[in-house]
Amino acid sequence: MKILVLHGPNLQLLGRREPDVYGLVTLDGITAALEAKGVELGVEIESVQSNHEGELVSLIGASDGVYAGILINPAAYTHTSVALFDALRAVDVPAVEVHLSNTAAREDFRHRSLTAPACVGQITGFGVESYLLGLAGLIDFIKRERS
Ligand code: DQA
Repeated sequence: MKILVLHGPNLQLLGRREPDVYGLVTLDGITAALEAKGVELGVEIESVQSNHEGELVSLIGASDGVYAGILINPAAYTHTSVALFDALRAVDVPAVEVHLSNTAAREDFRHRSLTAPACVGQITGFGVESYLLGLAGLIDFIKRERS
């Protein structure tokens, strides 16, 4: 079982980007934690970060039949991207949305997620743990769907 992990814009800067909000974890650190969790859960993890909405749209569009699920932190595109919502809705691949920060406790413009309604669930506010909880939830969802 292969899981596609997508990271949106500016997440390549984790570790030095607003550490008071996002902590000191780096993208490599998140990838390593997810890969270790993947071994534990018996799934293969493929991670991509992109600052380009169209690239994320294309990766989602090509995911059908290749990946069992998508774990996505759309970052700022969460709050703006109809294209990502449409892409997630267009494929038959369940997705879970994750955020490092608790977006509900931040600026008003972060309260609305355009992409979450196209996902099977959302986890926010737990730093790197959001990704690990999201991965476990996604795999649990896939297994329940298949049984
Ligand atoms: C984020 C929250 C978004 O509002 C923000 O634009 C990000 C990161 C998070 O993981 O907390 O870039 O997705």
